[in-house]
Amino acid sequence: MTNSTKYYITTPIYYINDKPHIGHAYATIAADVLARYHRQQGRDVKFSTGVDENAQKTVNAAEARGAKDIQAYTDEMAAVWQNTWKSLGISNSDFIRTTEASHKKAVYAFLKKSIESGDIYKGYYEGLYCVGCEEFKTEGELVEGLCPLHKTKPELVKEENYFFKLSKYRQPLLDYIKEHDHFIQPVSRYNEVVAFIERGLEDISVSRLKKPWGIPWPDDKDQTIYVWFDALINYLTAAGYPDKSYTDWWPANVHLVGKDIIKFHCIMWPAMLMSAGLELPKSIFAHGFFTIDGTKISKSLGNSIDPTELANQYGIDALRYYLLREIPFGADGDFSQARFATVYTTELANDLGNAVQRVTVMINKYLSGAIGEVALSGHDESRYREAMEHFKLDRALDEVWELV
Ligand code: MSP
Repeated sequence: MTNSTKYYITTPIYYINDKPHIGHAYATIAADVLARYHRQQGRDVKFSTGVDENAQKTVNAAEARGAKDIQAYTDEMAAVWQNTWKSLGISNSDFIRTTEASHKKAVYAFLKKSIESGDIYKGYYEGLYCVGCEEFKTEGELVEGLCPLHKTKPELVKEENYFFKLSKYRQPLLDYIKEHDHFIQPVSRYNEVVAFIERGLEDISVSRLKKPWGIPWPDDKDQTIYVWFDALINYLTAAGYPDKSYTDWWPANVHLVGKDIIKFHCIMWPAMLMSAGLELPKSIFAHGFFTIDGTKISKSLGNSIDPTELANQYGIDALRYYLLREIPFGADGDFSQARFATVYTTELANDLGNAVQRVTVMINKYLSGAIGEVALSGHDESRYREAMEHFKLDRALDEVWELV
């Protein structure tokens, strides 16, 4: 059971079909800011991130690059992601790779619980699968037959699969979410999830037939565990599940996710946890999406900015500052290099730089160059703390500016 001296925060685990872009760095940087804040408050912090390797898109990306050995490709890409976080000074305590044995062990232990609850059954599935989303789509979700996110035609899948009784958890989920109003944040996402569940939940397929890559279904080598079912369990793997000590960290305080993956985190994952008889995370916070100069980040448009290059140009702290200052946390926003340059000069170099310069001069002049005990007399930090505790990172920055 987590208590006030412990804090467990997670980022999504990222697909490795490509290297990180600035949108991915956004979530990881925000999680890092929160992790550092909670450490400063004297809490013991677990901060996990990682890579989601068992996806079909891993195989497609490896093949597109002519890589014969998919595991070797994932090793190479996992290192790219890890190095990016290092270059950005990210203070994660864990880096989960879903091809690791410890994760497989956690997935099997979890699935066993779900099977024992009677929530897994075999059935026939016919549906449209979007590899980009790694998700089955309904006709209603498509626009002119294409996935609205990836603009690709989903493939028709007809096969025998294992199913998870998601429908059984409709009412328990609604009750839980309504009783815990901080469970899903911000409130716009809470409303979206509640409305979705109220429309009804169907059972979901949680395995794929004859897929050579991924975690094999236990005792049925023809089936592979559906990548989202395996990926969500990473949050338990990082806590040490199924070893008993996992309750030192579980339930997590917060899963930080992008708004595109809230259904997986706010519906599928809590239902899976209920089925396995485990506690639910204390909260799930969804941040918004941002565009670059008004355009969606896309590889084909060639606008996917490398966060390491930006950090090299402006410095890690300036990059963190700009991302959190410019985009209200939880809302959508836009990233513009021109705007970054302006904010860098006006707010950081001029305003903050001048304040630091003046304070330095005064320390030399009046305190013989030794700062001694610092007391921000008369300054009330409670609003800053309040903002940080409630994921209002841009509000916390407003408080800092008040002081500056
Ligand atoms: N592998 C899944 C997550 C599994 S978690 C159990 C996945 N991976 S992802 O690499 O596609 O996306 C990871 C995160 O990056 C998501 O939270 C997504 O919202 C975020 N972002 C990707 N592009 C983004 C922007 N342009 N802006 C903000 N966040 C973005 O989904």
